[in-house]
Amino acid sequence: MARSGMGRLVCGAALGALLAGCSAAPEVRSASAPVAAATPAARTPEALLAGMSLERKVAQIVMPDIGSITPKDVRKYRFGTILNGGNSGPYGNDKAPAADWLKLADEFWEASSAPLPKGEPVIPAVWATDAVHGHANVPGATVFPHNIALGAAGDADLVRRIGAATAVEIEVTGLDWTFAPTVAVARDDRWGRTYESYSEDPALVTRLGKAMIEGLQGRPGEPGFLGEGKVAATAKHYFGDGGTAQGVDQGDVDGDLGDLMAIHAAPYPEAIGAGVASVMASFNSINGTKMHGNAPLLTGELRGRLGFGGLVVGDWNGHGQVDGCTNANCPQALLAGLDVYMVPEDWKALHANLVKQVKKGTIPMSRLDEAVLRVLRLKQNLGILDGEVKPSLRSNAGRWEKLGSQEHRAIAREAVAKSQVLLKNAGVLPLKPGARIEVAGSAADNIPQQAGGWSVTWQGGGDLTAEDFPGATSIWTGIAEAARASGGEARLAPKGDAASQPDVAIVVFGEEPYAEFVGDRKDLAFRDEEGLSLLRAYRARGIPTVAVFLSGRPLWVNRELNAADAFVASWLPGSEGAGVADVLFGKAAPTGRLSFSWPATCEGTPVNSAERALFPFGYGLGYGSPGGPGTLDETCAALSADGGAVWFASGKIGNAVQAVADNALLPDLRGTGNGITATGIDRRAQEDARRIAFARGAKLTLSGPESTAAWRITYSVAQRPKAPVTVTAGGAALDITQRLAVAEGKGWREMVLSPACLGTAGGRLTFASQGAFVLQIAEITRDESAAEAECSF
Ligand code: BGC
Ligand code: BGC
Repeated sequence: MARSGMGRLVCGAALGALLAGCSAAPEVRSASAPVAAATPAARTPEALLAGMSLERKVAQIVMPDIGSITPKDVRKYRFGTILNGGNSGPYGNDKAPAADWLKLADEFWEASSAPLPKGEPVIPAVWATDAVHGHANVPGATVFPHNIALGAAGDADLVRRIGAATAVEIEVTGLDWTFAPTVAVARDDRWGRTYESYSEDPALVTRLGKAMIEGLQGRPGEPGFLGEGKVAATAKHYFGDGGTAQGVDQGDVDGDLGDLMAIHAAPYPEAIGAGVASVMASFNSINGTKMHGNAPLLTGELRGRLGFGGLVVGDWNGHGQVDGCTNANCPQALLAGLDVYMVPEDWKALHANLVKQVKKGTIPMSRLDEAVLRVLRLKQNLGILDGEVKPSLRSNAGRWEKLGSQEHRAIAREAVAKSQVLLKNAGVLPLKPGARIEVAGSAADNIPQQAGGWSVTWQGGGDLTAEDFPGATSIWTGIAEAARASGGEARLAPKGDAASQPDVAIVVFGEEPYAEFVGDRKDLAFRDEEGLSLLRAYRARGIPTVAVFLSGRPLWVNRELNAADAFVASWLPGSEGAGVADVLFGKAAPTGRLSFSWPATCEGTPVNSAERALFPFGYGLGYGSPGGPGTLDETCAALSADGGAVWFASGKIGNAVQAVADNALLPDLRGTGNGITATGIDRRAQEDARRIAFARGAKLTLSGPESTAAWRITYSVAQRPKAPVTVTAGGAALDITQRLAVAEGKGWREMVLSPACLGTAGGRLTFASQGAFVLQIAEITRDESAAEAECSF
């Protein structure tokens, strides 16, 4: 955090290793909770604790989401900490400008600092955010490449600089704390959070995780630790997040505990040694026991053996998943060793229950006190227990020129260039100076897509546009500038220009943004054929091609590798797309190396074994000589099996799938019948999507092969419903009116309709509308891995 600039002494500077001399902190045993600032006796955590009522103590360990509280609630309850989830922005606006963040930070600060009666201590709240690749919730921030790309860059010093830049940008908006770095060791790339993992290799994750913590917080014992330009970091998610069976998000991790720790807990000792302020408990279970209720691992291992003295924060209602718990009631988690409950919405009931449970003795006061002390110590270390001023008065606050500054963007661009991994090059790269280049693919000039998930919104993509990333540069723009500078020219033809004869074509394509479980897949096949058809079309005309593949993980792309003359794994580069061109044009050498092995087949098996890898860990070509695989096998059982799983894609309806408007058949989901008018529209290719107008009382039924899978539907709403719209799979009807209403005009997004929330699965899905509205559909697939998911829109 930025201090008030009053020249406060930083302990570490003067006292070296004698950290304990900075405060009366007897129970802090490890290097992980070093103390940054001298605190007058009256404001030490212990002294404050002694003056607190039970209610106020409990409030210190309850972390609500800004979307569910007002400054008035903060004033009344005095929460210790608050967060903004990926979908929450100030004042209910996910895309709120930076100034709103600072304004709200002041409001929360003031509410939590208002005087209290009866001499009760006043303790400001701290605000945490997911700055997982830059302060990317905030429009205009520098969006760094996601961790998987940083793993490919493999440069700890670079990661440290990224952490430092991110911390400053967080301070500009008045926040204190980030839920980063993720130190997951992802071992199954079907996991939707693979891109948040630096590597499948624990040693690399350990090295980069530590560097990120040092960048964000500074180094304990050195001047400036957690001071100006620094924020509190979080090593997450402890532990096993990257090791769940089949890569299912929040799933179970099975195996010998020692073996599991050797991989998935490996990064924590170094993170703790680097003084990480907090550790987030993981959603997953280990051998059947949810981590949020796992005393042997949270207390025995983390506190005991690993000696972590900082704060253990829960994940989003993670405590509610513990056996016998709900979001509003879970003494088990505190007893197991959690210090702070992340309870976005149900904070009021949880607070009341915790108070009761302490009164009844279910929770010993000593455990509550210990948790509260950890919260207070984090605040002490940030320097806010004493003498801190409100967020907007701190030195970096409101320095808008530092948010997305040229200096930070230069670091991001360097990271992009260093993370590009050249998988194949038949000699077309680096591009020749003066070349006439055509750039194709809907991802070429698409900043939301190159940013990925956790960018302005939780899922990223969807209704976001370049305008939500002011100052960002698309991959296309970077190429265009580099081409001009080399004396050549580039033109953008997203769908490819069949009449052109460029010297070379660059096709940019890849995964659309997702976050967390929404990104879980049941295999590693890359299905979208847009890039493939463009590559094949250029090749058929004898034009050399370069594939630039955007993805959050390695995927089976044998078809694209065959069709391209050069292939670059570009990951999720973020706001500085020009870093891609730096490598394509040879301004920067391709030094990125795979931090994940690349799959040889499309099956969903873990890929971290050499014999299954097409490209092993550490692979990556330089410009020294051409290279890459020969012609690859293009068969993929999962793709052939899609007959049943794909209900509608690329403008075609699946085998054995029918669309019916009451009794009228709509072949290929097109035509009219009983209140439905379905016409072809262009999403990315000609007539690849449908515009479906519902009249009052109209019903659309899609039927296909029976399955227990969820429906995954890429949709947009062209005209919102004004009367109820429901969907049913044969069970109860789910009212989706509101979900559709808020999606109006917001571009393409994904809905997941799971058997779990529809009450039944089967082979029929019916949408019924009591009023006129217009739904657009681009894709409908059935996804087994989402069968248990909640419905999402
Ligand atoms: C994620 C965490 C994140 C939290 C707050 C959870 O769903 O698992 O990584 O920090 O939400 O947004
Ligand atoms: C929040 C995320 C959170 C997720 C968990 C979303 O609504 O914005 O931060 O991780 O829910 O399910």
